[in-house]
Amino acid sequence: MSKMSPREVALQAEFDAFYTATASSDLLPRLHAEALGDACPSEVEAYSSCNWNLLGTALSRLRMRPGQLLADIGCGTGGVGLWLARALAVNLVGVDLSRTAVELAMARRSDFVPPERARFQVGTVRATGLSDQCAQGAICVDVVVGTAEWAATLQELHRILEPGSRAVLTRTVRAGSGTVWKPQVENAGFEIEDVCERPEEPQIWRSLYHLWISRERELRRALGDALADTLLKEAREVLPRLGRHRSSLVTLRRRAT
Ligand SMILES: C[S@@+](CC[C@H](N)C(=O)[O-])C[C@H]1O[C@@H](n2cnc3c(N)ncnc32)[C@H](O)[C@@H]1O
Repeated sequence: MSKMSPREVALQAEFDAFYTATASSDLLPRLHAEALGDACPSEVEAYSSCNWNLLGTALSRLRMRPGQLLADIGCGTGGVGLWLARALAVNLVGVDLSRTAVELAMARRSDFVPPERARFQVGTVRATGLSDQCAQGAICVDVVVGTAEWAATLQELHRILEPGSRAVLTRTVRAGSGTVWKPQVENAGFEIEDVCERPEEPQIWRSLYHLWISRERELRRALGDALADTLLKEAREVLPRLGRHRSSLVTLRRRAT
């Protein structure tokens, strides 16, 4: 695996602590499940804004055939990729920078598919460790934030995807910033096949952040002050910005040449 940047190392430590807490106490999984309600199949156990709309769109847009390989980039504990792999009868490889997430994903893969059909490994969005043109589909849900990371992710997706195959990614930008990301997509060798607005996305995060804040005492007791502080800081910083977010699910197709 290529060397991680200082930012990736810091993110890895943060997400390892987060996922360790999801395994040692049921509080975080419960709060995520409560925030999502019936908007997402409960078995997915996503730590993201994944919902039925997202799964349904990915299912129909990926256009994958049984036995092909789906790559889930920034897979977390793997639920989104595993759910899609079962539904599409495809094989799955998940990549995440958190070692703990990768271990948890490996442990639950047989809840969805025969274990030989899914594997998970540590890697980053810009260096997945996957081989050239190995995948016939990719998803990336709530992973990429900044413009530079978006460009690096597109480059890596272009490398790992077979020509003509598709990637389905969430993209959140500041409302009013237009479609600044579109030229980047085209320069990276993709066509934009579909852009599906997700007006419901901010409300999912709003519900979750309000739950974290209202359960502060429980969070501190179950997770300790250090992790509780990190989560509460995120909630308080992001909550006021949510109204200014515009989120979409984009389907990109790797050009043949
Ligand atoms: C909000 S969670 C979403 C997880 C998963 N996609 C889901 O829907 O449940 C974001 C995930 O992205 C991973 N991540 C963040 N930055 C990453 C990077 N640069 N490379 C690889 N994974 C990354 C984190 O470890 C975390 O598991």
